[in-house]
Amino acid sequence: MSERKLRVAVIIGSVRSGRFGPAPADWIAAEAAKRDDLDVDVIDLARAWLPDVLPATAGTPAPQAVQDLAPWLDASDAFVIVTPEYNHSFPASLGRPSDPEGPLAAATSMLDQLTWWGRLLRDARAEGAYPG
Ligand SMILES: Cc1cc2nc3c(=O)[nH]c(=O)nc-3n(C[C@H](O)[C@H](O)[C@H](O)COP(=O)(O)O)c2cc1C
Repeated sequence: MSERKLRVAVIIGSVRSGRFGPAPADWIAAEAAKRDDLDVDVIDLARAWLPDVLPATAGTPAPQAVQDLAPWLDASDAFVIVTPEYNHSFPASLGRPSDPEGPLAAATSMLDQLTWWGRLLRDARAEGAYPG
């Protein structure tokens, strides 16, 4: 197994004025930073300025804010998403970074991720029981 530190992005999902989200996000980021097996980034979606309107067709260049955020997400091995619940769901701010190219691209990406994790977890389970 790799000894390289796992790079974790703590994402602050709430973007409303007066939000509480940064308090728990900063707390878990500080706890994670105490560990010698993690490198921690905090990504505040209130500062990412992701657009509400996104290109409808695949192949259209992503808006600049999405392009700016993408390397941070790409560089992460794992995510801690600190989200409020608004009206029994997560806020739209959290949907934007994960769905920049529309529903079909999102579904393809989700299924790619599902099979990637499924294979990885199947192999890991064969090596030993999950410690949680
Ligand atoms: C508009 C609005 C809708 C909310 N809807 C729910 C809800 O459906 N269920 C729930 O348990 N809490 C709900 N809450 C409470 C929030 O999840 C909680 O206050 C959270 O800490 C807000 O995070 P924030 O301050 O970072 O935005 C709602 C709060 C707001 C402002």
